[in-house]
Amino acid sequence: MIQISLVTNDIIDRSSDAYVFFCRHDFDFARLSATAGHLYAPYEQAVKERGFTGKAGSSLILNGVYKGKAVYLVFLGLGDMPHKKPGGSIEVYRRALGRLIRLAEGHKFSSFTFDLPDPAVLNLSYRHLAEETSTFLHKASYHFDQFITNKERTYHWSMNAVIGAPKNYEAEVQEGLNRGLCFADALTLARTWCDMPPSHLPPATLAKEAVAKAKEYGLTTTILDKKQIDKLGMGGIEGVCRGSVNEPCMVIIEYKAAKKDAPTIALVGKGVTFDTGGLCIKPAASMLTMKDDMAGAAVVLATMNVIAQLKPDVNVVALAPLVENMPSGSAIKPGDVLKTYNGKTIEVIDTDAEGRLILADALAYAADVYKPVAMIDLATLTGAIGVALGVYYAGLFSQHDELAERVIDSSIRTGDQVWRLPLDDDYIPAIISDIADVKNIGDRKYLGSSITAALFLKEFTGETPWVHLDIASVAFGVPDLSYLRSGATGFGIRLLTDLVMQWKPFKG
Ligand code: BES
Ligand code: MN
Ligand code: ZN
Repeated sequence: MIQISLVTNDIIDRSSDAYVFFCRHDFDFARLSATAGHLYAPYEQAVKERGFTGKAGSSLILNGVYKGKAVYLVFLGLGDMPHKKPGGSIEVYRRALGRLIRLAEGHKFSSFTFDLPDPAVLNLSYRHLAEETSTFLHKASYHFDQFITNKERTYHWSMNAVIGAPKNYEAEVQEGLNRGLCFADALTLARTWCDMPPSHLPPATLAKEAVAKAKEYGLTTTILDKKQIDKLGMGGIEGVCRGSVNEPCMVIIEYKAAKKDAPTIALVGKGVTFDTGGLCIKPAASMLTMKDDMAGAAVVLATMNVIAQLKPDVNVVALAPLVENMPSGSAIKPGDVLKTYNGKTIEVIDTDAEGRLILADALAYAADVYKPVAMIDLATLTGAIGVALGVYYAGLFSQHDELAERVIDSSIRTGDQVWRLPLDDDYIPAIISDIADVKNIGDRKYLGSSITAALFLKEFTGETPWVHLDIASVAFGVPDLSYLRSGATGFGIRLLTDLVMQWKPFKG
């Protein structure tokens, strides 16, 4: 647990286990000397001897003394500012915060303190910098260790982060820190859902937990149960869950803006609480991570809690179809045909392409019932997206350039990175079925299975401006980022919130 407090006094008047300095490449020692030199007189020589120059990704820890007590001096490199890549400067800072938390854990600090770096250097306001700071200190401190009984392996000590800012920015920084905490809480919630063992979180349990949390924030909640799903003709959701002992459901969470006649944005998330592949069963190694196949649902549901607190001027509705994809005597078979909410029929070629079957109903329902001005779906949809883009970019597909651009802008601001791929009609023949309207995987000869998956979804969006984010390779198991660990990432919460908060009517 990390506790953040804001102070405005001089860093040298604070008593702490560790004193942290953010340093640009080839930084000026004179600016640190009053503090660092006070803790450890020959610090400049030590820093030079150890070869610390402030390069991005670097860190150095020295020992010092504060009022007779042993303390640490922590130097974190920020590299050359501004960073060349759009959004790169703040990302370097986020990673420095991640390294700080790893050092704090390794050395068991009970407290550390630093002054916020100059936000102008990062081209941000104090409010925004404070928000990022509290989000990423918390995000880096996340550990999914509730099933580890050996307390020596868990991280449940409390750590005080004492953050300094100039007196005249105190209110602004405090507001940013508070906002950052909203994101941190939502990230922890979504990541915990993803990391939870699959038998602990079947559809009904996830639905119940999501609704309970949403109610705490005053949001409107609905759970469509199996009966209602059948009655509404959601044959995709019903079909995928047919082989499971657990019933499907759809969670709907609504935020209503104070403004009258505000437009509505719909967020749809794939919620397969476990994906065995169904009768087209996955090999064991590919199945292992399939408890995370509800990451899209977790993210859209958790995002609503942030939205409830930040209160944008638009209505937002999150829809999460929740199912478990299991093989059994009652499971759907390759060759079966399902009829979806919008009346279209789907030939199931491969029961492992189940995400698009449940999203078909959810997208069509969202478009029909909520008439949104924009609809974004997040889905761990295809393994192929990881082949194309690797672990640091989600795939973006859209039929609406202006919406796509906005999502890309939000992505650059928040570090939830996306890359646009083609949603080209030339691939449509790949998903035309001989016996139904569409089939749930594309013909092999067209390749591009992430593209044909996206085109399949497009069949169910009507005229609604829509963006599909394939998050299969970014939702969990992303390596080498200091503020993450193994397991879920919470990708998309900050991106979606940013998009919603900035909403304005389309130009075109
Ligand atoms: N949930 C998987 C996609 C996935 C793969 C997510 C790896 C995260 C990591 C999805 O339901 C699936 O099985 N997709 C198949 C589609 C194929 C049958 C067309 C895939 O990607 O192999
Ligand atoms: Mn699958
Ligand atoms: Zn899946």
